[in-house]
Amino acid sequence: MVFLQVIKLNEKYLKDFISADDKQKLDSVWKEAEAALNKVKDRTGAGKDMLGWVDLPGNYAKKPELINELDRIKAAAEKIRKNSEVVIVAGIGGSYLGSRAAIEFIKSHLYNNTEKDTPDIYFLGNSISTDNLNEIIKICEKKNFSVIVISKSGTTTEPAIVFRILRGLLEKKYNSEEVKERIFAITDKNGEKSKLKALADLKGYEKFVVPDDIGGRYSVLTAVGLLPIAVAGIDIDEIIEGAAFAEKTYLEFSKNNDCLKYAVLRNLLYQKGKSVEIMAAYEPALAMMNEWWKQLFGESEGKNKLGIYTSSVIFTTDLHSLGQFIQDGSRIMFETVINIENSQSDFVIPADSEKIDGMDYVDGMTLHEVNYKAMLGTVIAHTDGGTPNIILNINKRDEKTFGELVYFFELACAVSGYMLGVNPFDQPGVEDYKTNMFALLGRPADKDKNYPEIRKEIEKRI
Ligand code: PA5
Repeated sequence: MVFLQVIKLNEKYLKDFISADDKQKLDSVWKEAEAALNKVKDRTGAGKDMLGWVDLPGNYAKKPELINELDRIKAAAEKIRKNSEVVIVAGIGGSYLGSRAAIEFIKSHLYNNTEKDTPDIYFLGNSISTDNLNEIIKICEKKNFSVIVISKSGTTTEPAIVFRILRGLLEKKYNSEEVKERIFAITDKNGEKSKLKALADLKGYEKFVVPDDIGGRYSVLTAVGLLPIAVAGIDIDEIIEGAAFAEKTYLEFSKNNDCLKYAVLRNLLYQKGKSVEIMAAYEPALAMMNEWWKQLFGESEGKNKLGIYTSSVIFTTDLHSLGQFIQDGSRIMFETVINIENSQSDFVIPADSEKIDGMDYVDGMTLHEVNYKAMLGTVIAHTDGGTPNIILNINKRDEKTFGELVYFFELACAVSGYMLGVNPFDQPGVEDYKTNMFALLGRPADKDKNYPEIRKEIEKRI
């Protein structure tokens, strides 16, 4: 089968922002990008043990254990689809954003409200909100439901608390054999490290392993993302095909490589003082894709007092809120615009026989055309206002495109992190809030931390 690259980068709207000096600088930025790409390929950079995602898509067709893993994922999804009206995915950060992004990108942000023969899917354990939990419990109460609990470490507070509650609900509703059929645990292989693994072993739940060399935010193409995505009736083979194509295409160094070009351009803009990147899309179905992208780049780059702050908008909605700032506020940002060339459906704007709303000039146009014109007009306006725009054109919202986009951004992120001189695969800064929260919750001292002492110190400051 012949594949065509679905992501096409358009840098035309950057030309007013790149001076003759910058053009010279670009050569050295490209050299840095090449060196960074080599670190990814040769596994010689910081966090080199966390590069399992690099050849994962291609390996799905080659490695018997991965072929088997895909079969197990599909069988588990089929079982869930047959016995459940609702599925709750309990996970936070990289353990839920990718699957939620895929379901909304490929199906709809209104997935649960659409007519379908697959279960509704709710995401819990990604906050500590009482009201959100109670509302979702209420939805499940009278329905047959299953739980997919995802935590690589198997010790994260938010999903652990929610899973304890959901397990209790399942145990109240079903006998122990049925409960076992309804819980799926995705976690580390080591029960010493992961409490979730130890619990799943003890109770006999079906398990999937998050590979040691793949961190949370790079894990959407493992069972972490693929099981919930398959439950939604999405073809996961197609997603992997799109990602495998991207692996072949974007690991080859060339100045025409759009993935590297994206890393290069954002690095150049950062050097020119643009320290905020806004991911802009014109479809509500991309809101969670934006969230996934924000975590990927934000958590990977934002360390050592460096990095581009990641932010996102859905247009035209946010043109009526943040549009003012992007047009005219502090000039610290650039935009990356995802332009989807074809909508999944069509709508022709009907003529108004009474001609009273003053909108006759759009008679007979498709809504998609109007959206496209809004995008073109906005790109010109924002660049005129001093916000550089990078455009990523994609053909449509489907499985292959999602797979290609995931790999495009993961590789661009790793390369960008290395160009910045940080380890794109750790997140040391996330520990600080956890330490304070554990101390305030009364966690006893362990070999690493004296929580009661920390608590005394913090309480003095509250
Ligand atoms: O990218 C990451 O590693 C993090 O965002 C994690 O995905 C997140 O903290 C959840 O961790 P865990 O899967 O261990 O519960």
